[in-house]
Amino acid sequence: MSGARAEDLLEWYDVHARVLPWRVPPGAGLRADPYRVWLSEVMLQQTTVAAVKDYFTRFTTLWPTVDDLAAAEDERVMAEWAGLGYYARARNLLKCARAVAAAGGFPDTEAGLMELPGIGPYTAAAISAIAFNRPSVVMDGNVERVMARLFDIHTPLPGAKPELKAKAAALTPAMRPGDYAQAVMDLGATICTPRSPACGICPWRAPCLARAHGTAAGLPAKTPK
Ligand code: ADE
Repeated sequence: MSGARAEDLLEWYDVHARVLPWRVPPGAGLRADPYRVWLSEVMLQQTTVAAVKDYFTRFTTLWPTVDDLAAAEDERVMAEWAGLGYYARARNLLKCARAVAAAGGFPDTEAGLMELPGIGPYTAAAISAIAFNRPSVVMDGNVERVMARLFDIHTPLPGAKPELKAKAAALTPAMRPGDYAQAVMDLGATICTPRSPACGICPWRAPCLARAHGTAAGLPAKTPK
């Protein structure tokens, strides 16, 4: 056991959370709007945070609610999507918006969310955690890297996924799970980066087993192609 505590990461997040247009800052006491969480997560599926920011702001200015987006013309939405790529995402975006508008809102469970077009396990968990503050286990490349290092797991990906998910699940707190999910994303994006991780300023430097063993930069291991 590495002894890592979610509370230590949340304390760090309270000070260092990235300011992002879809994000409710920690401590603001506001609830995240499921529409904005969903839209940002779909845009972020294959696109970087830097590239998504302006698109997100433009979409939410043009279409502030899921009902507005559902009522938009297909051609208009596709035109605004131009540049983000992966146009199947934009088509699913509209299908999903119309299904949600017809249902009167987003489902608030991972299983319900997964039935919607374009929402897979990652996106369902992210919306469940961030918008509905449920202790869903949000697994992406960032989280896998952080868990592999924290617990010094050398099993190569993709085989290590179940083990990494079990570690992530055990760490996910009952309090503030939405902030926690975003805190792990920020840690992976800004400190526990793929190359040259900034271990010296990491809120989890004390419990991190890979740091203790000097193995962080080589993790997660990958099966050679
Ligand atoms: N990458 C994927 N989802 C994200 C989010 N909600 N915030 C920051 N980066 C992300």
